[in-house]
Amino acid sequence: MLQNILLAKDEKAELISPRTIENGKLKLVPSKDWTSGFFAGQLWYLYEFTRDKKWKAKADSFTLLLEKEQFNASTHDMGFKMYNSYGIGYRLTKNAHYKAVIIQSAKTLATRFNKKTGTIRSWDHHADVWDFPVIIDNMMNLELLFAATRLTGDSLYYNIAVSHANATLKNHFRKDYSSYHVVDYDTITGNVKKKMTHQGFADESAWARGQGWALYGFTMCYRETKDKKYLHQADSIAAFILHHPNLPADGVPYWDFNDTAIPAVPRDASAAAVIASGLYQLSKFSKQSKEYKIAADKILTSLTNNYRSAIGENFGFILLHSTGNKPAKSEIDVPINYADYYYLEALLRSKK
Ligand code: GLY
Repeated sequence: MLQNILLAKDEKAELISPRTIENGKLKLVPSKDWTSGFFAGQLWYLYEFTRDKKWKAKADSFTLLLEKEQFNASTHDMGFKMYNSYGIGYRLTKNAHYKAVIIQSAKTLATRFNKKTGTIRSWDHHADVWDFPVIIDNMMNLELLFAATRLTGDSLYYNIAVSHANATLKNHFRKDYSSYHVVDYDTITGNVKKKMTHQGFADESAWARGQGWALYGFTMCYRETKDKKYLHQADSIAAFILHHPNLPADGVPYWDFNDTAIPAVPRDASAAAVIASGLYQLSKFSKQSKEYKIAADKILTSLTNNYRSAIGENFGFILLHSTGNKPAKSEIDVPINYADYYYLEALLRSKK
C-alpha cells in the first residue's frame, strides 16, 4: 500500500534537491536522480558540525523527500541516495523510521544482485551495449548493505556486499591498481565480457572520480569486514593516485588521469573531495597513516583556498570546478552537490 502511494507520487517527479548550476540557473532534481541524497546529507553534516537544531529540522525535511526511493529497484544508486541521507540521519538521531527505510532500501537494492556474476547490476540503460554492466561507483552502495546487516542481524546484505567487493577486486583493476569504469558480465557464464569506460577519457584510462570511488569503497569494505585484502587494495589504489605523474601539485586531479591534453583540461574537485575523505578514513587503518593525512590535508587546503565559492554566490554551493560527465559534455567545471557532500565529510573526518 505504502509502496503504491509513494510510487504514484513519483509520476509528478517533484524536484527535491539542488544538483548543480546549468546555464547560470540552479538545477534541481527529483528523488530518482542519483545525486538526490547529497543535499540532505550535507544538512546532516552541518548538524553534526554545529549541533544546532535548525540544521536537524532542515535535514529531517529534505531526507523525508526521498522516501519513495526505498522501493525504486530500477537503479543501483540506492546507497548514494539513501545511505548518505537516511543513513547519516540514523547515525545522528537513532530515528526508528530512518532505520526502517534503510532496511527497505537495502532489500530493494538486493534484488539487483545476480548470483552467477556475484555482483549487483549497475545500469539498466544501454541494453544494446551491455549485458550486465557493473561500474566502479557501485562500491559506494555497499555501505548501505553493511548497515542493513548490522540493523537486522540478517547476513544476506553483508554477503552480497562481500561478493560484489570480491568480484570487483578481481575484475575491475589493472596491474597498476587503476580501475576500469565499466565491467560487463555474461549472466549465463558469470564471466567478464568486456571492460570499458562511459564517463572517462578512454577505455584504458583512469577516470579520476572512479579512482576516488574505488579508494573510498575498499577502505569502507575494510572498515566493515576487517578483511586484509581490502586494506591492501585501498593502500594500492591510494599509491596509484598519490604517486601519479599527472596528479597536479595541489592534489586536485584532472578529470581523468590520462587525458592526452593535460594540463589544458578541467579538474574535478568532486574527485578530490572523495579522495580526501577516503584518505582520512584509510589513515585510521593503514601503516601509511601519516602520508595519507598529509595528502588529505593538502587536498582540503587546496579546495578551501582555491576552489571555494565566495559566500552568497553560486546559489550557496561550496566548491567550484567539478566535472560530472565530460564525454557527454555535461557538467564541466561547475559546482555539484556531491563535491560539497564529500568536502564536508572530509572536513569532519579531518577533525576526528
Ligand atoms: N556515479 C556517477 C558519477 O560518479 O558520475
